[in-house]
Amino acid sequence: MRLSGKHIVLGLTGSIAAYKAAYLLRGLVKEGAEVQVVMTPSAKEFITPVTMSALSGKPVASEFFSANDGSWYSHVDMGQWADLLLIAPATASTIGKMAHGICDNLLLTTYMSAKCPVMIAPAMDLDMFNHPSTLANLEKLRSYGNLILEPGEGELASGLYGKGRMEEPENIVEEVVRFFSQKKKLLNKHFLVTAGPTYEKIDPVRFIGNYSSGKMGYAIANELACEGANVTIVSGPVQIQNSNPEITVIPVESASEMYEHCLRIFPETDGAVMCAAVADFTPEHYSEQKVKRQKDNLKLNLKPTTDIAAALGQLKTEKQLLVGFALETNNELVNAFLKLSKKNLDFVVLNSMNVKGAGFIVDTNEITIIGRDNNPTFFELKSKAEVAKDIVIRIISEMEKKYGFQE
Ligand code: CTP
Repeated sequence: MRLSGKHIVLGLTGSIAAYKAAYLLRGLVKEGAEVQVVMTPSAKEFITPVTMSALSGKPVASEFFSANDGSWYSHVDMGQWADLLLIAPATASTIGKMAHGICDNLLLTTYMSAKCPVMIAPAMDLDMFNHPSTLANLEKLRSYGNLILEPGEGELASGLYGKGRMEEPENIVEEVVRFFSQKKKLLNKHFLVTAGPTYEKIDPVRFIGNYSSGKMGYAIANELACEGANVTIVSGPVQIQNSNPEITVIPVESASEMYEHCLRIFPETDGAVMCAAVADFTPEHYSEQKVKRQKDNLKLNLKPTTDIAAALGQLKTEKQLLVGFALETNNELVNAFLKLSKKNLDFVVLNSMNVKGAGFIVDTNEITIIGRDNNPTFFELKSKAEVAKDIVIRIISEMEKKYGFQE
């Protein structure tokens, strides 16, 4: 009984794979979990609530109010009761709604209220799975810290062959067991992550910025939080909403604001990951009035900003870990290693501007990690969520190696 004492909300949506949810539910209950089933209205077209209620030993929640006695199913209570919200099968439509905050049924409101980890097993036809909107929505859910159980490849209900089949029930049960039994390696650790661009104001309507989206920094923060760490992101202006309760976001605009917050927070942390694309220069003078068009060239005097990573490198104690990024266009490995020494980093993550699909804005990245031994580890092009996993694995191993840190 590897799941005894665990509370699981099992969400079902309208997919042909809903029949597999009966086996999944039976597997979870067999392992000792207490399961509350929540079905969307269209899930009931595929499998009856009677089956799910008989297998779970609990009435199935589906509407906001019970048709019999008018009692209210509190999505907030369910969201707080659960140790895990498992949505299997999850259709493209539900995934899209989850990614965009649409709450038109009980399962979606439960998702929005849940304080627990969320695991999602997509199920759909291969073209729907490969559609850019589904892929972008899944990426968004990953960035919220949700865990995606990749669908398998095989024969689909449509008769087509490809990716989109819901993971088999027994494998999902094993994933759930693994999830609950895995030792989080960074429990009680506090990390600072800088993310996004900085905006350096010229006048009330103009600034100097860059293309950084913040996706890489937020993905690292999520991965650190998955390992049990408490994370503070000092974030430049980005379009990402954080919904992970283990992560606190401090929004800033300029390099100097970012510097002040990092300086204050860093001494209380076990380490920092400097992922922000901080402006190296800022206008020497801020014009209170909008700068007017003029006939001659406009000359802007720029002064250097403080190098935040280097400043933290000076403050770093032997118990702290400092990770930096390097964005290089030439002599990449040499320049990245120079940055590591100059800023007193423990390792540097090199992003190449020369690789298609890596760097700013895109959802993928190709990195090389260079440690103090100057022995680079090369990684292939992956989603930023996967890249974040590689970086956090390295963080954990550096902490173990350098500080004798035990899980
Ligand atoms: N960084 C920082 N503060 C700055 C500039 C950079 O904390 N004012 C950090 C970045 O977050 C990154 C690392 O330093 O982790 C390297 O940033 P990068 O822009 O590649 O290098 P720079 O030091 O700015 O050097 P250059 O632009 O000359 O390559």
